[in-house]
Amino acid sequence: MARIALVTGASSGLGREFVRRIDAGDAGPMDEIWVVARRAERLEALVRTCKTPVRPFCLDLTDTVSFDIIEAALAEEDADVALLVNSAGCGTFGPFALQENADNARMLSLLMRAPVELIYRALPFMHAGSRIINVSSVAAFMPQPGLSVYAAAKRFVLDLSRSLDMELGEVGIHATAVCPKFMHTEFLDAPGDADTMRAMASLTGFERPEAVATKALAAARAGRQLCIPSGDMKAFYLASKVLPYRVAIGVEQLLLHAQKPDAIPIV
Ligand SMILES: NC(=O)c1ccc[n+]([C@@H]2O[C@H](COP(=O)([O-])OP(=O)(O)OC[C@H]3O[C@@H](n4cnc5c(N)ncnc54)[C@H](OP(=O)(O)O)[C@@H]3O)[C@@H](O)[C@H]2O)c1
Repeated sequence: MARIALVTGASSGLGREFVRRIDAGDAGPMDEIWVVARRAERLEALVRTCKTPVRPFCLDLTDTVSFDIIEAALAEEDADVALLVNSAGCGTFGPFALQENADNARMLSLLMRAPVELIYRALPFMHAGSRIINVSSVAAFMPQPGLSVYAAAKRFVLDLSRSLDMELGEVGIHATAVCPKFMHTEFLDAPGDADTMRAMASLTGFERPEAVATKALAAARAGRQLCIPSGDMKAFYLASKVLPYRVAIGVEQLLLHAQKPDAIPIV
């Protein structure tokens, strides 16, 4: 029975860093790393550069057939899924009424449906000690005007992780929600309303995907439900728990309007 790590969003950004850290041994020994994304050439690069055997799955996770393909491969290998990382994502900033509805549909599908499907289908191949990492965001901590669908989807991921961790903890499987702040990745290449994105980024600042992946894997090993990699966002999380949400959002909006988005370097 091959011990595998299954990582979505592996062709870029945080997902690729997860693959590199897993390859370096941060999640314990793995027989194979299964990597999922649409861009085949990026996945092939991982096959060439990782020491651990990498199996690429060039799939679109907004297409439900993709889940059947992964489930069939797990069954064929009788795999032992030691780690599932749901990192694939996309997001668009800007007022809800001005969003393309296709972008909303893509966010809902990729950010919510895909993790639910993959967790459900991978669970029969998990055992005591297996871990699930779901990439959420600091956007999940409270409602976010200007990022409404994305933030609500990331809240879903956060709450799903916590309830699954409680359910599955009884059989020794743990789920960790990871809440990064902004990272310099391709996520920011097509932001929709770039001014809104820059203003939000100027409030939180950036963190490195390498550090996020390392801290997330450590939190998962420890069986922690929540990983907020940066100290200032831990404080933001606590504030979001104690302040009435209207007050918290009001303060955030005041700060956002005081930003000078053009002054924010995005790359
Ligand atoms: N960057 C940030 O500021 C930030 C902050 C907080 C949370 N996050 C979250 O972190 C996670 C990783 O994002 P990132 O920053 O690493 O962004 P990224 O560099 O754009 O990576 C996104 C990954 O998702 C994959 N993906 C996108 N659409 C897909 C689809 N339809 N089917 C399959 N795979 C798809 C992409 O691969 P292909 O294009 O090859 O398919 C890529 O590997 C996301 O969940 C994001 O919401 C990001």
